[in-house]
Amino acid sequence: MKNEVANIQPQPKDTFYVDTFRPQDAEGIVRLFRAVYGEGYPIRLFYDQEAIIAANREGRYISVVARTNAGEVVGVTHLYPSAPNMALYEVGVGLVLKEYRNSGASKAMLSYLFDEFVPRNSNIEELFGESVCNHIIMQKSMELFRHIETAIEVALMPAEAYTTEKSARGRVAALDGFRCYVPKPHKIFMPPVYNGILREIYARLDDEREILLSSGSLPSSRQTSAELTIFDFARLARIAVTRAGYDLAARILEMEEQARAKNVIVFQVWLNLTEPWVGRAAETLRENGYFLGGALPRWFDGDALLMQKTECDPDFDSIILYSDFSKKLLRFIRDDRRV
Ligand SMILES: CC(C)(COP(=O)(O)OP(=O)(O)OC[C@H]1O[C@@H](n2cnc3c(N)ncnc32)[C@H](O)[C@@H]1OP(=O)(O)O)[C@@H](O)C(=O)NCCC(=O)NCCS
Repeated sequence: MKNEVANIQPQPKDTFYVDTFRPQDAEGIVRLFRAVYGEGYPIRLFYDQEAIIAANREGRYISVVARTNAGEVVGVTHLYPSAPNMALYEVGVGLVLKEYRNSGASKAMLSYLFDEFVPRNSNIEELFGESVCNHIIMQKSMELFRHIETAIEVALMPAEAYTTEKSARGRVAALDGFRCYVPKPHKIFMPPVYNGILREIYARLDDEREILLSSGSLPSSRQTSAELTIFDFARLARIAVTRAGYDLAARILEMEEQARAKNVIVFQVWLNLTEPWVGRAAETLRENGYFLGGALPRWFDGDALLMQKTECDPDFDSIILYSDFSKKLLRFIRDDRRV
Protein backbone atom coordinates (compact mmCIF):
# COMPACT_ATOMS: atom_id res chain seq x y z
CA MET A 1 0.00 0.00 0.00
CA LYS A 2 2.81 2.39 0.92
CA ASN A 3 4.47 1.57 -2.40
CA GLU A 4 1.33 2.39 -4.31
CA VAL A 5 1.28 5.83 -2.74
CA ALA A 6 4.99 6.33 -3.38
CA ASN A 7 4.51 5.22 -7.00
CA ILE A 8 2.57 8.36 -7.85
CA GLN A 9 5.76 10.44 -7.64
CA PRO A 10 4.34 13.52 -9.34
CA GLN A 11 6.61 16.43 -10.03
CA PRO A 12 5.40 19.21 -7.76
CA LYS A 13 3.41 21.77 -9.71
CA ASP A 14 3.57 19.69 -12.90
CA THR A 15 0.81 21.12 -15.07
CA PHE A 16 -2.61 19.59 -14.72
CA TYR A 17 -5.95 20.06 -16.40
CA VAL A 18 -9.53 19.48 -15.26
CA ASP A 19 -11.75 16.92 -16.90
CA THR A 20 -14.76 14.71 -16.40
CA PHE A 21 -14.14 11.16 -15.24
CA ARG A 22 -12.72 8.41 -17.46
CA PRO A 23 -12.69 4.79 -16.24
CA GLN A 24 -8.88 4.79 -16.35
CA ASP A 25 -8.93 7.52 -13.64
CA ALA A 26 -10.37 5.11 -11.06
CA GLU A 27 -6.99 3.64 -10.12
CA GLY A 28 -5.55 7.12 -9.59
CA ILE A 29 -8.53 8.15 -7.46
CA VAL A 30 -7.98 5.16 -5.14
CA ARG A 31 -4.29 6.09 -4.84
CA LEU A 32 -5.22 9.66 -4.06
CA PHE A 33 -7.55 8.60 -1.24
CA ARG A 34 -4.81 6.38 0.24
CA ALA A 35 -2.26 9.19 0.00
CA VAL A 36 -4.51 11.71 1.76
CA TYR A 37 -6.60 9.59 4.16
CA GLY A 38 -4.62 6.35 4.58
CA GLU A 39 -7.19 3.62 5.13
CA GLY A 40 -9.44 5.89 7.22
CA TYR A 41 -11.89 7.42 4.74
CA PRO A 42 -15.41 6.38 5.72
CA ILE A 43 -16.89 6.03 2.22
CA ARG A 44 -15.32 2.68 1.34
CA LEU A 45 -16.30 2.95 -2.31
CA PHE A 46 -13.28 5.20 -2.86
CA TYR A 47 -10.93 2.29 -2.19
CA ASP A 48 -12.48 0.17 -4.96
CA GLN A 49 -11.76 1.00 -8.61
CA GLU A 50 -14.66 -1.01 -10.02
CA ALA A 51 -17.08 0.59 -7.56
CA ILE A 52 -15.92 4.07 -8.59
CA ILE A 53 -16.46 3.21 -12.27
CA ALA A 54 -19.93 1.77 -11.57
CA ALA A 55 -20.93 4.75 -9.41
CA ASN A 56 -19.95 7.15 -12.21
CA ARG A 57 -21.77 5.06 -14.79
CA GLU A 58 -24.96 5.04 -12.68
CA GLY A 59 -24.73 8.72 -11.64
CA ARG A 60 -24.45 7.94 -7.91
CA TYR A 61 -21.17 9.84 -7.92
CA ILE A 62 -19.98 12.19 -10.67
CA SER A 63 -16.20 12.55 -10.41
CA VAL A 64 -14.34 15.55 -11.78
CA VAL A 65 -10.56 15.16 -11.83
CA ALA A 66 -7.39 17.20 -12.09
CA ARG A 67 -5.00 15.19 -14.26
CA THR A 68 -1.40 15.73 -15.28
CA ASN A 69 -0.46 15.42 -18.94
CA ALA A 70 0.98 12.01 -18.05
CA GLY A 71 -2.51 10.96 -16.94
CA GLU A 72 -1.93 10.96 -13.15
CA VAL A 73 -4.90 12.00 -11.06
CA VAL A 74 -3.70 14.69 -8.63
CA GLY A 75 -7.09 15.92 -7.45
CA VAL A 76 -10.71 14.91 -7.51
CA THR A 77 -14.05 16.30 -6.45
CA HIS A 78 -17.59 14.95 -6.67
CA LEU A 79 -21.24 15.65 -7.22
CA TYR A 80 -23.79 13.21 -5.83
CA PRO A 81 -27.43 13.14 -4.84
CA SER A 82 -27.43 12.70 -1.04
CA ALA A 83 -30.58 14.49 0.15
CA PRO A 84 -34.21 13.31 -0.11
CA ASN A 85 -34.69 15.60 -3.12
CA MET A 86 -32.90 14.00 -6.08
CA ALA A 87 -32.66 17.34 -7.92
CA LEU A 88 -30.44 18.65 -5.11
CA TYR A 89 -26.83 17.50 -5.44
CA GLU A 90 -24.08 17.63 -2.90
CA VAL A 91 -20.63 18.76 -3.94
CA GLY A 92 -17.91 17.21 -1.85
CA VAL A 93 -15.42 14.39 -1.37
CA GLY A 94 -12.80 16.75 -2.77
CA LEU A 95 -9.09 16.26 -2.21
CA VAL A 96 -5.78 17.17 -3.75
CA LEU A 97 -2.44 15.41 -3.52
CA LYS A 98 -0.17 17.17 -1.03
CA GLU A 99 2.45 17.99 -3.66
CA TYR A 100 -0.18 19.86 -5.67
CA ARG A 101 -1.80 21.82 -2.88
CA ASN A 102 -2.19 25.55 -3.10
CA SER A 103 -1.66 25.57 -6.86
CA GLY A 104 -5.31 26.13 -7.71
CA ALA A 105 -6.29 22.50 -8.39
CA SER A 106 -9.31 22.52 -6.12
CA LYS A 107 -10.43 25.90 -7.37
CA ALA A 108 -10.07 24.81 -11.00
CA MET A 109 -12.15 21.66 -10.43
CA LEU A 110 -14.87 23.59 -8.61
CA SER A 111 -14.94 26.31 -11.21
CA TYR A 112 -15.45 23.72 -13.96
CA LEU A 113 -18.10 21.98 -11.93
CA PHE A 114 -20.12 25.06 -10.90
CA ASP A 115 -19.81 27.15 -14.03
CA GLU A 116 -19.64 24.58 -16.82
CA PHE A 117 -20.81 21.13 -15.79
CA VAL A 118 -23.89 21.96 -13.69
CA PRO A 119 -25.35 24.60 -16.04
CA ARG A 120 -25.18 21.94 -18.80
CA ASN A 121 -27.10 19.40 -16.70
CA SER A 122 -30.58 20.77 -16.04
CA ASN A 123 -31.57 17.81 -13.83
CA ILE A 124 -29.32 19.40 -11.18
CA GLU A 125 -31.51 22.20 -9.81
CA GLU A 126 -29.60 23.11 -6.67
CA LEU A 127 -26.19 22.36 -5.15
CA PHE A 128 -24.98 22.26 -1.59
CA GLY A 129 -21.69 21.56 0.08
CA GLU A 130 -20.57 20.74 3.62
CA SER A 131 -17.28 22.57 4.12
CA VAL A 132 -15.24 21.12 6.95
CA CYS A 133 -14.44 23.53 9.76
CA ASN A 134 -11.02 22.19 10.81
CA HIS A 135 -9.58 24.58 8.18
CA ILE A 136 -10.93 27.47 6.14
CA ILE A 137 -9.63 26.42 2.73
CA MET A 138 -12.94 25.17 1.34
CA GLN A 139 -14.89 27.95 3.05
CA LYS A 140 -12.76 30.55 1.24
CA SER A 141 -14.12 29.27 -2.09
CA MET A 142 -17.76 29.58 -0.99
CA GLU A 143 -18.18 33.26 -1.73
CA LEU A 144 -16.35 33.01 -5.04
CA PHE A 145 -18.67 30.20 -6.14
CA ARG A 146 -21.76 31.90 -4.74
CA HIS A 147 -22.61 29.37 -2.07
CA ILE A 148 -24.84 30.90 0.61
CA GLU A 149 -24.19 29.74 4.19
CA THR A 150 -27.36 28.34 5.73
CA ALA A 151 -26.45 25.85 8.48
CA ILE A 152 -23.68 24.51 10.70
CA GLU A 153 -23.55 20.84 11.56
CA VAL A 154 -21.57 20.59 14.79
CA ALA A 155 -19.47 17.50 15.59
CA LEU A 156 -20.39 15.96 12.25
CA MET A 157 -17.31 13.91 11.41
CA PRO A 158 -15.11 11.89 13.78
CA ALA A 159 -11.47 12.94 14.18
CA GLU A 160 -10.36 9.51 12.93
CA ALA A 161 -11.25 10.59 9.38
CA TYR A 162 -8.40 13.07 9.54
CA THR A 163 -5.64 11.14 11.30
CA THR A 164 -3.36 10.70 8.25
CA GLU A 165 -2.98 14.45 7.85
CA LYS A 166 -3.39 15.08 11.60
CA SER A 167 -5.68 17.98 10.77
CA ALA A 168 -8.25 17.55 13.55
CA ARG A 169 -8.08 16.99 17.30
CA GLY A 170 -11.72 16.23 17.93
CA ARG A 171 -14.89 15.84 15.90
CA VAL A 172 -15.16 18.20 12.97
CA ALA A 173 -18.07 20.53 12.20
CA ALA A 174 -19.30 21.41 8.71
CA LEU A 175 -20.65 24.65 7.30
CA ASP A 176 -23.44 24.08 4.78
CA GLY A 177 -23.66 26.33 1.72
CA PHE A 178 -26.29 26.23 -1.07
CA ARG A 179 -26.46 27.55 -4.63
CA CYS A 180 -29.60 27.64 -6.74
CA TYR A 181 -29.54 26.87 -10.47
CA VAL A 182 -33.26 26.36 -11.12
CA PRO A 183 -35.40 28.65 -8.93
CA LYS A 184 -38.24 27.13 -6.94
CA PRO A 185 -40.13 29.86 -5.10
CA HIS A 186 -42.41 28.41 -2.41
CA LYS A 187 -44.09 29.12 0.89
CA ILE A 188 -42.29 28.34 4.15
CA PHE A 189 -43.05 28.88 7.84
CA MET A 190 -40.67 30.26 10.45
CA PRO A 191 -40.65 28.80 13.97
CA PRO A 192 -41.09 31.96 16.12
CA VAL A 193 -38.00 31.12 18.20
CA TYR A 194 -35.84 31.13 15.05
CA ASN A 195 -37.70 33.83 13.12
CA GLY A 196 -34.89 36.39 13.36
CA ILE A 197 -31.93 34.23 12.41
CA LEU A 198 -33.80 32.30 9.69
CA ARG A 199 -34.96 35.54 8.09
CA GLU A 200 -31.33 36.66 8.02
CA ILE A 201 -30.39 33.42 6.27
CA TYR A 202 -33.26 33.79 3.79
CA ALA A 203 -32.44 37.44 3.10
CA ARG A 204 -29.11 36.20 1.70
CA LEU A 205 -30.57 33.31 -0.33
CA ASP A 206 -30.37 33.30 -4.13
CA ASP A 207 -33.99 32.17 -4.58
CA GLU A 208 -37.46 33.49 -3.64
CA ARG A 209 -39.54 32.34 -0.68
CA GLU A 210 -42.87 33.49 0.71
CA ILE A 211 -42.16 33.60 4.42
CA LEU A 212 -44.89 33.31 7.05
CA LEU A 213 -44.76 32.87 10.80
CA SER A 214 -45.49 29.33 11.95
CA SER A 215 -48.39 28.79 14.33
CA GLY A 216 -50.70 26.05 15.53
CA SER A 217 -50.19 22.67 17.09
CA LEU A 218 -49.15 19.35 15.61
CA PRO A 219 -52.08 17.81 13.71
CA SER A 220 -54.06 15.59 16.08
CA SER A 221 -55.28 13.26 13.36
CA ARG A 222 -52.02 12.56 11.63
CA GLN A 223 -49.08 10.32 12.49
CA THR A 224 -45.51 11.42 11.97
CA SER A 225 -43.77 10.27 8.82
CA ALA A 226 -40.09 9.86 9.65
CA GLU A 227 -37.13 7.82 8.55
CA LEU A 228 -33.93 7.08 10.45
CA THR A 229 -30.51 6.62 8.82
CA ILE A 230 -27.46 5.70 10.88
CA PHE A 231 -23.90 6.42 9.78
CA ASP A 232 -21.97 3.90 11.88
CA PHE A 233 -18.49 5.22 11.29
CA ALA A 234 -19.46 8.78 12.12
CA ARG A 235 -21.69 7.67 15.05
CA LEU A 236 -24.30 9.95 13.51
CA ALA A 237 -28.08 9.53 13.10
CA ARG A 238 -30.19 11.52 10.69
CA ILE A 239 -33.97 11.55 11.08
CA ALA A 240 -35.95 12.86 8.11
CA VAL A 241 -39.36 14.07 9.30
CA THR A 242 -41.28 14.63 6.08
CA ARG A 243 -44.55 15.08 8.01
CA ALA A 244 -44.80 15.94 11.70
CA GLY A 245 -47.86 14.56 13.50
CA TYR A 246 -49.19 14.31 17.05
CA ASP A 247 -46.74 11.49 17.92
CA LEU A 248 -43.57 13.39 16.93
CA ALA A 249 -41.97 13.36 20.40
CA ALA A 250 -42.54 9.63 20.86
CA ARG A 251 -41.25 8.79 17.38
CA ILE A 252 -38.07 10.80 17.90
CA LEU A 253 -37.41 9.17 21.26
CA GLU A 254 -37.94 5.72 19.77
CA MET A 255 -35.53 6.41 16.89
CA GLU A 256 -32.96 7.92 19.23
CA GLU A 257 -33.06 4.70 21.28
CA GLN A 258 -32.46 2.61 18.16
CA ALA A 259 -29.56 4.87 17.23
CA ARG A 260 -28.03 4.85 20.73
CA ALA A 261 -28.01 1.07 20.64
CA LYS A 262 -25.64 1.49 17.68
CA ASN A 263 -23.36 3.91 19.55
CA VAL A 264 -24.68 7.07 17.93
CA ILE A 265 -23.69 10.27 19.73
CA VAL A 266 -24.73 12.93 17.21
CA PHE A 267 -28.40 13.30 16.23
CA GLN A 268 -29.78 15.41 13.43
CA VAL A 269 -33.44 15.93 12.61
CA TRP A 270 -34.76 17.50 9.41
CA LEU A 271 -38.15 19.17 9.85
CA ASN A 272 -40.33 20.25 6.95
CA LEU A 273 -40.47 24.06 6.74
CA THR A 274 -43.49 23.92 4.41
CA GLU A 275 -45.68 22.66 7.29
CA PRO A 276 -47.48 25.55 9.04
CA TRP A 277 -46.96 23.88 12.47
CA VAL A 278 -43.19 23.41 12.05
CA GLY A 279 -42.68 25.86 14.95
CA ARG A 280 -44.41 23.44 17.32
CA ALA A 281 -42.32 20.59 15.91
CA ALA A 282 -39.13 22.59 16.55
CA GLU A 283 -40.25 23.32 20.13
CA THR A 284 -40.92 19.62 20.68
CA LEU A 285 -37.33 18.90 19.71
CA ARG A 286 -35.94 21.77 21.80
CA GLU A 287 -37.74 20.30 24.83
CA ASN A 288 -35.74 17.16 24.12
CA GLY A 289 -32.30 18.82 23.98
CA TYR A 290 -32.12 19.77 20.32
CA PHE A 291 -30.82 23.11 19.10
CA LEU A 292 -30.70 24.90 15.76
CA GLY A 293 -28.56 23.75 12.84
CA GLY A 294 -30.00 26.06 10.20
CA ALA A 295 -31.98 25.99 6.96
CA LEU A 296 -31.61 23.40 4.19
CA PRO A 297 -33.08 24.86 0.99
CA ARG A 298 -34.84 22.43 -1.40
CA TRP A 299 -34.09 19.52 0.96
CA PHE A 300 -37.41 17.73 0.57
CA ASP A 301 -38.04 19.69 -2.64
CA GLY A 302 -39.48 22.26 -0.22
CA ASP A 303 -37.02 23.54 2.40
CA ALA A 304 -36.09 21.84 5.67
CA LEU A 305 -35.02 23.01 9.11
CA LEU A 306 -31.97 21.27 10.58
CA MET A 307 -32.13 20.60 14.33
CA GLN A 308 -29.27 18.82 16.10
CA LYS A 309 -28.27 17.32 19.42
CA THR A 310 -24.92 15.96 20.55
CA GLU A 311 -24.17 13.53 23.32
CA CYS A 312 -20.50 14.50 23.12
CA ASP A 313 -18.74 17.83 23.54
CA PRO A 314 -19.42 19.86 20.34
CA ASP A 315 -16.12 21.67 21.01
CA PHE A 316 -17.36 25.00 19.68
CA ASP A 317 -13.96 26.64 20.29
CA SER A 318 -12.24 24.54 17.65
CA ILE A 319 -14.76 25.29 14.90
CA ILE A 320 -12.83 27.47 12.43
CA LEU A 321 -15.00 29.76 10.33
CA TYR A 322 -14.14 32.25 7.60
CA SER A 323 -17.12 34.50 6.84
CA ASP A 324 -18.69 36.98 9.25
CA PHE A 325 -22.13 35.54 8.67
CA SER A 326 -21.08 31.99 9.50
CA LYS A 327 -19.54 33.28 12.74
CA LYS A 328 -22.80 35.01 13.61
CA LEU A 329 -24.75 31.83 12.87
CA LEU A 330 -22.44 29.81 15.11
CA ARG A 331 -22.93 32.28 17.97
CA PHE A 332 -26.69 31.84 17.67
CA ILE A 333 -26.39 28.03 17.55
CA ARG A 334 -24.12 27.99 20.59
CA ASP A 335 -26.52 30.17 22.57
CA ASP A 336 -29.47 28.05 21.47
CA ARG A 337 -27.73 24.95 22.84
CA ARG A 338 -27.24 26.62 26.23
CA VAL A 339 -30.91 27.49 26.70
C1 LIG B 1 -8.90 21.35 0.71
C2 LIG B 1 -8.06 21.00 -0.51
C3 LIG B 1 -8.89 20.10 -1.44
C4 LIG B 1 -7.69 22.31 -1.24
O1 LIG B 1 -7.02 21.98 -2.43
P1 LIG B 1 -5.98 22.97 -3.16
O2 LIG B 1 -5.87 22.51 -4.56
O3 LIG B 1 -4.74 23.05 -2.38
O4 LIG B 1 -6.73 24.38 -3.09
P2 LIG B 1 -6.48 25.61 -4.07
O5 LIG B 1 -5.02 25.66 -4.44
O6 LIG B 1 -7.44 25.55 -5.21
O7 LIG B 1 -6.80 26.82 -3.11
C5 LIG B 1 -8.11 27.25 -2.78
C6 LIG B 1 -8.01 28.41 -1.81
O8 LIG B 1 -7.54 27.93 -0.52
C7 LIG B 1 -6.30 28.57 -0.19
N1 LIG B 1 -5.44 27.61 0.46
C8 LIG B 1 -4.93 26.47 -0.06
N2 LIG B 1 -4.20 25.83 0.87
C9 LIG B 1 -4.26 26.58 2.00
C10 LIG B 1 -3.74 26.43 3.31
N3 LIG B 1 -2.99 25.37 3.67
N4 LIG B 1 -4.04 27.38 4.24
C11 LIG B 1 -4.83 28.44 3.92
N5 LIG B 1 -5.35 28.63 2.69
C12 LIG B 1 -5.07 27.71 1.74
C13 LIG B 1 -5.74 29.07 -1.49
O9 LIG B 1 -4.87 30.16 -1.29
C14 LIG B 1 -6.99 29.46 -2.21
O10 LIG B 1 -7.44 30.71 -1.69
P3 LIG B 1 -7.79 31.95 -2.62
O11 LIG B 1 -9.17 31.64 -3.15
O12 LIG B 1 -7.80 33.10 -1.69
O13 LIG B 1 -6.75 32.00 -3.67
C15 LIG B 1 -6.76 20.26 -0.09
O14 LIG B 1 -6.10 21.06 0.86
C16 LIG B 1 -6.99 18.89 0.49
O15 LIG B 1 -7.02 17.89 -0.25
N6 LIG B 1 -7.15 18.79 1.83
C17 LIG B 1 -7.42 17.53 2.51
C18 LIG B 1 -8.82 17.01 2.26
C19 LIG B 1 -9.91 18.03 2.68
O16 LIG B 1 -9.87 18.62 3.74
N7 LIG B 1 -10.91 18.20 1.80
C20 LIG B 1 -12.01 19.15 2.03
C21 LIG B 1 -13.24 18.43 2.49
S1 LIG B 1 -14.57 19.62 2.67
